[in-house]
Amino acid sequence: MKKSLIVYFSQSSNTRRVAQILQKLTGADLEEIRPVSPYTEPYEALTRVVKDELQRGFLRPIEALDRDLSQYDTIFLGSPNWWSTVATPVRTFLNRYSLEGKTVAPFLTHGGGGKGNADRDVKKLCTGQILEMLALYEDGGSRAEGELSAWLQKIGFAAEGGAKE
Ligand SMILES: Cc1cc2nc3c(=O)[nH]c(=O)nc-3n(C[C@H](O)[C@H](O)[C@H](O)COP(=O)(O)O)c2cc1C
Repeated sequence: MKKSLIVYFSQSSNTRRVAQILQKLTGADLEEIRPVSPYTEPYEALTRVVKDELQRGFLRPIEALDRDLSQYDTIFLGSPNWWSTVATPVRTFLNRYSLEGKTVAPFLTHGGGGKGNADRDVKKLCTGQILEMLALYEDGGSRAEGELSAWLQKIGFAAEGGAKE
């Protein structure tokens, strides 16, 4: 049987909210990517810390996932847009866990910059079969559920969850 897992990172809860709506729509399991040392800086300082991590190629350590990825054939991967790419803890996740042979459906929340290079970068960082990325502004607001549903249909997910054969 096909099983789906939503794996996401969220610093200020937008991506978390979107992931939770996605869970309601798909029935998929939900797992958060947690840095071993959470980011505690206020916004401006955080943007500088992250820019530095990206420039150095630093993979911020993350806690091990609770779930065994081998049990899943579809991974919904959620991230905020950080400097036009996926958040650094998501980079660590993709570096540490192989998604080879899995279907990967990426979703992103952003502050006005849209996908930026995030969809291109997921394809570079990941070995799975990558579907079209959904990008939502901040937490998607009242349109989040509708946009998620439309995206699920577009990428071939039935309303009751699970990929169509
Ligand atoms: C370090 C950092 C860098 C960001 N860079 C961008 C960016 O390049 N483009 C953009 O549209 N939004 C950017 N944002 C805004 C976030 O993408 C947006 O607020 C997102 O919804 C936050 O998700 P979260 O609440 O799940 O952490 C940035 C935010 C942070 C903290």
